[in-house]
Amino acid sequence: MDLHELYVGCRTYRRFTREEVPEGVIREALENARIASSGRNAQSLRYVAVTSPEAVRDMQPLVKWAAALPPEIGTPKEDEQPTAFILVIKTPEAGAFSDVDVGIAVNTIVTSCWSRGVGSCLMGAINIPKIKERFGVAEEDTLRLAIALGKPAHRSTIVELPENGAVHYYVDENRDYYVPKRAFRDIVRFV
Ligand SMILES: Cc1cc2nc3c(=O)[nH]c(=O)nc-3n(C[C@H](O)[C@H](O)[C@H](O)COP(=O)(O)O)c2cc1C
Repeated sequence: MDLHELYVGCRTYRRFTREEVPEGVIREALENARIASSGRNAQSLRYVAVTSPEAVRDMQPLVKWAAALPPEIGTPKEDEQPTAFILVIKTPEAGAFSDVDVGIAVNTIVTSCWSRGVGSCLMGAINIPKIKERFGVAEEDTLRLAIALGKPAHRSTIVELPENGAVHYYVDENRDYYVPKRAFRDIVRFV
């Protein structure tokens, strides 16, 4: 798979098979995040890999899926849920650029996973206090994002923006996703 192909396929996935994500895939993704660039090389991020069946089960009610869709369509059913999560945490020494660091790290993680056939959903709509409590995240640390992981059980296709310019994603009768992206000419200016 070349890099462009990887980026085209590395979409958000919200339904998964029950196949376990191999621990080696998670370790490789986190190793790649470990050596990623960070502002001042501060390396202020920490990660919790949620992989045991009980821990993964406890995460499921603490995340919110697909705000743009009704829950019966966007929320995975019991046999469609992700089989692992990664929590992305900022420590107190995180500086002004730490959200950039988070972006670099999570993109590293999701592309690494996708290169091994594991799909993901970045999740910002999460129950932060409950997740911090359940997984022993220190009070002074900031839980910034969760990443749901699993073998995808649906397709997701990039499409052009409709004429009315709406950016929200939608599904077809098979609950396969379509994700509108702005045209290159509308977001890039060469000078
Ligand atoms: C910072 C961030 C937070 C997100 N939070 C959620 C979330 O809480 N729940 C969810 O279902 N999707 C979430 N998403 C996924 C976005 O909805 C998705 O990236 C967007 O619809 C575009 O789809 P694509 O990733 O396939 O390009 C999040 C994405 C990002 C980048």
